[in-house]
Amino acid sequence: TEPVIVVVGSLNMDLVTVTDHVPDAGETVLGSSFHTFCGGKGANQAVACARLGAKVHMIGCIGDDSFGQDLLHNLEAEGIDCSGITTIQGQSSGTAAITINEHDNRIIVVPGANGEFTATLVEKHRELIQAADLLLMQLEVPMETVKAAAFIAQEHRVPIMLNPAPAAPLDAAWMETINWFTPNEHELSIMLGNQLKMETDSPSAMEHWGALLGTCPERIIMTKGADGALWTTADGQVQHTKGLNVEVKDTTGAGDTFNGALAVSLAEGRSLEEAVKRSVAAGALSVTRFGAQGGMPTRTELEAFLQTGKTSSSS
Ligand code: RIB
Ligand code: NA
Repeated sequence: TEPVIVVVGSLNMDLVTVTDHVPDAGETVLGSSFHTFCGGKGANQAVACARLGAKVHMIGCIGDDSFGQDLLHNLEAEGIDCSGITTIQGQSSGTAAITINEHDNRIIVVPGANGEFTATLVEKHRELIQAADLLLMQLEVPMETVKAAAFIAQEHRVPIMLNPAPAAPLDAAWMETINWFTPNEHELSIMLGNQLKMETDSPSAMEHWGALLGTCPERIIMTKGADGALWTTADGQVQHTKGLNVEVKDTTGAGDTFNGALAVSLAEGRSLEEAVKRSVAAGALSVTRFGAQGGMPTRTELEAFLQTGKTSSSS
């Protein structure tokens, strides 16, 4: 049967400007296109899970504006249960102003309603977390809220995956409650309080991280963008699951797709090796289309890609 995943996190409207030239201070330039896409790390990860076949419940907050309604309807259209989403009166929905040029993405997130997502609201939806196979979270909502959800999950022995993005230091005692962390290199260094000053690819680095976390290294799965991901076996061997070659249109949301796929795969009881392989493939597919949620594969699309190595746009 389908795994049940609860996502506690953010919803944002992504306001995406594509331009050849990023303006300097005081400069005005003409961009080439503008799009509004539903996003936010929480909502993106929820959509990634739902497309891969999980039953998903989202707990989060929207503003009382039209973006809020769009964000809600978008998740409902993906078959996600939105009974845990609260509308904050007099507040705007979260937004992400994203500028894309051929070299990079620049993102300014204004939390809006996501910033008013309190621990009390999580508590109100405790029974959703209690019944989950896995709780998936990020750091785009207040830390106290993320912690409150983690303690509820721990109390009911629900495994927890934390994508520590955007980067923030985490306190050691609380980190014990988390079963899997999925930072990129930068986030890993920040979450451990910048104690990481070593070659990230070396086996000893992963062991060192595990020791710093006061827990087993196999709890850390480090994403490396186009290079795939690093993870560690139970006996401490660092493994590198290589990235896959695809035509890149937009990397926004690739990390979210990876996280959603990892959550579903682990909740289905797959090995870490297989779960990471599927997640790298899902992340690769996601960058072939514009928008954080564009390109996130369905289970059928992911299976086809894993078998043929071809994306639908390349076949
Ligand atoms: O991870 C990508 C997301 O980060 C975007 O959808 C944007 O909303 C920002 O929060
Ligand atoms: Na995409």
